[in-house]
Amino acid sequence: MKLLVIGSGGREHALAWKLAQSDKVEIVFVAPGNAGTAAEKKLCNINLSDHQQLIQFCIEQEITFTLVGPEAPLAAGIVDDFTAAGLAIFGPSQYCAQLESSKDFAKAFMHQHSIPTAAYATFTDATAAHQYVAQKGAPIVIKADGLAAGKGVTVAMTLDEAHQAIDSMLMDNSMGSAGARVVIEDYLQGEEASFIVLVDGEHVLPMASSQDHKRLLDNDKGPNTGGMGAYSPAPAVTPAVHQRVMEEIILPVVRGMQAAGHPYRGFLYAGLMIDATGAPYTIEFNCRFGDPETQPIMCRLQTDLVDLIVAALAGKLDTTQAVWSEETAVGVVLAAAGYPQISRRGDSIEGLEAANQIGKVFHAGTTNHPDKKLIVSGGRVLCVVGMGKNVADAQKQAYLALAPIHFKGMQYRHDIAAKALNK
Ligand code: AMP
Ligand code: GLY
Repeated sequence: MKLLVIGSGGREHALAWKLAQSDKVEIVFVAPGNAGTAAEKKLCNINLSDHQQLIQFCIEQEITFTLVGPEAPLAAGIVDDFTAAGLAIFGPSQYCAQLESSKDFAKAFMHQHSIPTAAYATFTDATAAHQYVAQKGAPIVIKADGLAAGKGVTVAMTLDEAHQAIDSMLMDNSMGSAGARVVIEDYLQGEEASFIVLVDGEHVLPMASSQDHKRLLDNDKGPNTGGMGAYSPAPAVTPAVHQRVMEEIILPVVRGMQAAGHPYRGFLYAGLMIDATGAPYTIEFNCRFGDPETQPIMCRLQTDLVDLIVAALAGKLDTTQAVWSEETAVGVVLAAAGYPQISRRGDSIEGLEAANQIGKVFHAGTTNHPDKKLIVSGGRVLCVVGMGKNVADAQKQAYLALAPIHFKGMQYRHDIAAKALNK
């Protein structure tokens, strides 16, 4: 069969790479892909993004199914458009994707279905927002309502920071229309984890647990990013936590969407805060796989990913299982100079061949310069995954693998998975 993956990041490289390992697959097209997907066996980049052009391509190529990586096309209704054209596509509809594309929608949905999450209020008026935080006190969390590529959240430890974030979003328009409405919510404490599942409209198949590292610098310092590294499994997700997340968060979403007449199909990602008693709270929903969580998780998946997606498209996840490697996988993101503000582009990247002998290098912000040199073309450039029989070994492998890689201004965290070491 021929497949299509939509997206250009490390997540899409990992998903397409995994799909291509299936004997059933002849070729996986990636739209638009990156220099990593361009170099991979059985993968082929195509430079299309318009929905109608993609639909035309799928019809001409007789694509068996399309898998959508990022949130933007989901929020733009790509699944609705493909479905209307009679094409198989795996991802949530535009309606369901509001769980990610509008924080206000997600909070109201959680409230309606008694899903545990921080108390909140939504504002478009800056004066009212200032009054609310003055009354609530710090720490407090200010979030742009719309999509902001992981950069729309200010965890304000002081009232000053909170007032500044409100002014920046509601008065200075710093996030554009995404920040024209803000959600202000209570500060939650605990350990974060990513809980990602496959949903077929009715049934749920959990993926392996993982933990992301959102801050730019070691020891969770510096600004929030799209994610600087991830590992799987995450010891914070104990069997008891797993069961509570399924019962209190995931299944209520699936049933709530069914009841609303919009069955949820696709990957569903709950960003969790697990408190000291083991109670899980929802920080956010994403309507897709995580990036960089996908990279280590796909390295541990032993089941044919094509079989999982085909089962999900057929509504048969209740009779489907996923087998995971017993090994731990640790993925470290290598980011460009200036990330997450303004990333410098054009620096040439060296050392990938040596790195790939030790671990697996997934590309994100890379492109091939006309003279064939590999260059930086985005904020998060690469994600290097190491595997090992425990966290310490996997971590060691990941850092050994990235050691030969070099580009000017390369930034990475030195402590990915450190939190799991003493568990
Ligand atoms: P989000 O984009 O909503 O996932 O938020 C980005 C990051 O901000 C999360 O991964 C958390 O580290 C932090 N964060 C978001 N909401 C809260 C909250 N209510 N309490 C504490 N930290 C939060
Ligand atoms: N790694 C966090 C995300 O994908 O949103």
